[in-house]
Amino acid sequence: MSSYIDIHSHILPQIDDGAENFEMCMKMLCIAHENEINKIILTPHNKPTHHSAAPGRIMRQIDELQEEIEKQGLAITLYAGNEIYYRSDILALLDGKEACTMAGSDYVLVEFNPMDDFSCIRKGIYQLLSGGYFPILAHAERYSALYASIDKVKELIDLGAYIQVNAGSIMGQYGFGIKKCSRRLLKQELVHFVATDAHDDVSRTPCLLGCTKYIRKKFGDEWVERIFVDNPSHIIANEYIRRR
Ligand SMILES: [Fe+2]
Repeated sequence: MSSYIDIHSHILPQIDDGAENFEMCMKMLCIAHENEINKIILTPHNKPTHHSAAPGRIMRQIDELQEEIEKQGLAITLYAGNEIYYRSDILALLDGKEACTMAGSDYVLVEFNPMDDFSCIRKGIYQLLSGGYFPILAHAERYSALYASIDKVKELIDLGAYIQVNAGSIMGQYGFGIKKCSRRLLKQELVHFVATDAHDDVSRTPCLLGCTKYIRKKFGDEWVERIFVDNPSHIIANEYIRRR
């Protein structure tokens, strides 16, 4: 039995478009447990005019959920985070503690509009770096600006970004094109994290085992350890992660 860490998930109930209620949230945690996940960074959306629960509420809900998990005997530890939708005042938001970094570290999970052009993504990444944060680009395989050009992903990494890819993308859940792109990123060692981005207990679930099996077979044990255990552990410990 392994101990994987999921760094991107929407399991907290009734806080964004993830778990609709407490029952669904607990089912998702059971699925995570069956998938040998023992630590989860919960990353509700922080998006203007959409979902932007205050960090205080996120922490409170996590404390309550952690108590419930322990009562039910599930060996899972939860950490607070956010998936922050990029906007120009993102540094003010973070510096003012209006959004959560990842597990209290200097790492920040950031998403862009899938249709944003490369210069916008590059500018956002640079802005976070200049503010002293370590940006992790959420589901990098989904941006049209990066989709066709691996070199653009390399450029972002060289600038200082970390790349997160969804397990479902690698396994073909979002279509052939996204599967091809995410597998190409893996092959070229341009992926620092693979996470579930789980939203429910039916179609976007916290399943990892199919993906860990694929990566183990294709790239070996060391890769699985690095992507699902070591790199995420470094986030939690707020330690430096090698980019290339
Ligand atoms: Fe997400």
